[in-house]
Amino acid sequence: MDRTMTYAVIAGSGSFLPERVVSNDALAAELAERGIETSDQWIVERTGIRQRHLAERGVTTSALATQAARHALEDAGVTAADVDLIIVATSTPDFVFPSTACLVQAEIGAKGAAAFDVQAVCSGFVYALTTADSFVRAGRSKCALVIGAEVFSRILDWNDRGTCVLFGDGAGAVVLKASDEPGIIAAQLNADGSQTHILCAAGNVAYGEVTGDPFLRMDGQAVFKQAVTVLDKSARKVCEDAGIALSDVDWLIPHQANVRILNFLARKLDMPLERVIVTVDTHANTSAASVPLALDAARRDGRVKAGHTVLLQGVGGGFTWGSVLAKM
Ligand code: ACO
Repeated sequence: MDRTMTYAVIAGSGSFLPERVVSNDALAAELAERGIETSDQWIVERTGIRQRHLAERGVTTSALATQAARHALEDAGVTAADVDLIIVATSTPDFVFPSTACLVQAEIGAKGAAAFDVQAVCSGFVYALTTADSFVRAGRSKCALVIGAEVFSRILDWNDRGTCVLFGDGAGAVVLKASDEPGIIAAQLNADGSQTHILCAAGNVAYGEVTGDPFLRMDGQAVFKQAVTVLDKSARKVCEDAGIALSDVDWLIPHQANVRILNFLARKLDMPLERVIVTVDTHANTSAASVPLALDAARRDGRVKAGHTVLLQGVGGGFTWGSVLAKM
């Protein structure tokens, strides 16, 4: 460890899920009214998802992000006035512009703090955290708020049972502070833009109307295979870069898409399932929000403790993926 270096430490975390909980049974009943067949059994067996939180109409990504941010600030024992950087990872921003981060900045009163969004779909939080870590290490930020927030329910085709049962809405956040001790030990990000077609929402606002397809489309099996392969590689690479063994990682906290992906990954990495944080059963896939939601849940229930080494992993549309290794 180089004592002359500045590191970024995760000083606090917070999360927020919309009040409305929709169980698999309730969703199946809603879809049945439109002639679409699904069941709790199918969803649990294929994904491990039992319920999702769905934001009421009019509740925005920035509203969820603001609540998660407030909880993270409180947990870290800092105020909005201390924050000099806000990065929001989202693929469901309130507007084309301004960024959701600017809306959160105004809402919490972090006057003057730099604010921008990062768009890397389900890898968004890991991308945003790596970006904020770079700012802190370079001395350009002393206290950063990194948020993953989504209202994915707005971009789902509720007539497509292959996707609409998989996602939920929510937000998670962490506060990163400059410190002489690590902190974030290593990070690595990747993308393969030739794989855009396996997971995309290929629509846009142009000429005053929506052009293209405004709904999320996915080749589920291709995404499944890619996710397991790249998360395995990325976990090994980030540990190698940090010079630590995978067996020294206390907690694996991957993107919460599907319990079967998590089980496959754990098996490939030889990581006991007891050391993998799983929250997808309670909130489904919340895209950029899923990793901070899982981290916050595990910190609050006492599994992740100070001094533990955690491996945070994102994977999603783009295709994008990445890992952050951090000492808590
Ligand atoms: N309820 C009941 N039946 C369904 C449903 C549903 N909700 N959805 C699909 N089916 C049916 C299909 O129509 C198909 O029927 P058929 O055999 O009569 O044609 C059958 O189930 C099998 O469909 P598959 O798509 O082959 O099912 P699979 O076992 O691949 O499971 C799933 C689908 C769950 C999407 C899986 O591919 C998967 O988990 N992929 C990973 C994708 C993922 O997690 N994406 C999240 C976003 S990406 C990310 O976050 C990284």
